[in-house]
Amino acid sequence: MTMASRLLVDVHTHVYLPRYASLLRSRSTVPFIRTNTTADGLSEDRLLILENEPSGGRPVGPQYWDREEKLKFMDKHGIDISVVSTANPWLDFLPAAQAQTLASELNEDLEQYCATSPSTNSSGPYKIKRLYGFGLLPLVPEVSTTSVLRIVNQIASLPHLRGLIMGTRGIGQGLDDEALDPVWAAIEKAGLVVFLHPHYGVDGSAWGDKDNGHVLPLALGFPFETTTSATRLILSGVFDRFPNLRLLLAHSGGALAALSSRLASCIDHDPRAASRLKHDARYYLGKLYLDAVAYGPEELGFVSDVISRSTGYEAGTSISKTPDRSLGSQRMFFGTDHPFFPPLEPSEKWKSVTENLEAIALVQGWSEEDKAGVRGGNAMSLFNLRE
Ligand code: URA
Ligand code: ZN
Repeated sequence: MTMASRLLVDVHTHVYLPRYASLLRSRSTVPFIRTNTTADGLSEDRLLILENEPSGGRPVGPQYWDREEKLKFMDKHGIDISVVSTANPWLDFLPAAQAQTLASELNEDLEQYCATSPSTNSSGPYKIKRLYGFGLLPLVPEVSTTSVLRIVNQIASLPHLRGLIMGTRGIGQGLDDEALDPVWAAIEKAGLVVFLHPHYGVDGSAWGDKDNGHVLPLALGFPFETTTSATRLILSGVFDRFPNLRLLLAHSGGALAALSSRLASCIDHDPRAASRLKHDARYYLGKLYLDAVAYGPEELGFVSDVISRSTGYEAGTSISKTPDRSLGSQRMFFGTDHPFFPPLEPSEKWKSVTENLEAIALVQGWSEEDKAGVRGGNAMSLFNLRE
């Protein structure tokens, strides 16, 4: 194993760049940052980004915008490299012209954030930075395709941006909107990785009236939003039209792995959807990349089984191959979701990190090499992390 393939790489880690944090501070409707004065006269920033935000929002501080804090967090947890993305809700709430200007500025800001970061200690032939990034597109209603394509090209031209983060709304009609085809084509051609990340959750009326804080929207709503969005993408035939599109799903793809055979069966029984697809639905799962932010070894093992199986589902066959966990592991990537999920009590390390690392270490049927791949080797290849 080479030195570089033993690095720990975090592909799911966020920032609100200072320019974006200032925008949030300037607002008084969701999304915004509010400064409160506490009972003992101290000031406290709170982040309100979800509709019907529970419990007056979440406390925020420099972890969310200060690069030194990101690097300190990485040092504390032995993370060599982070591929950093703006956190939700990106530019979704802005008018098209402002979204376009801000996308361009934030992409430049993130390039600087990464380009001026220290190098890793890796002693290979290539110099590797500690920070790389996912850029942002101005995906909002009424934006012109030309503007979005201009930003795809900008991201592709910025050397430390290796992909882009995207929510699930597209330009207002979701990601199965045919109007996005030129965007998928440009992203595929540029070889950028699309990181699909939730923000809206699902209909909050399902959560009942008990105060469970952020638990239901984050534990269930977020992953189910990703599940729905990725399923709609599959059903629209995007992977038949753009077979080399590289799509990384947040939170291990939500419930997609667990529901994929049911999905395939429902498609089989519905000619409207079936006629649009070249393959059994399970085939498309093998085209996905998934983070390993699932917090448990059984879940990671299961997801890697399901995505490895897809090769048994090429057109005209419906024979499931025996799952190959090791093969599936090659499409999975360590992540932390930093700076979200900080420890509630002061603690040396963040549980959200140690739990995800332990989960990787404990997956039955993953070899040491598979685990090293999930910890970082797979990301080194997918993002071509070298200078
Ligand atoms: N909460 C959020 O709002 N975003 C994340 O990425 C994680 C938790
Ligand atoms: Zn996240």
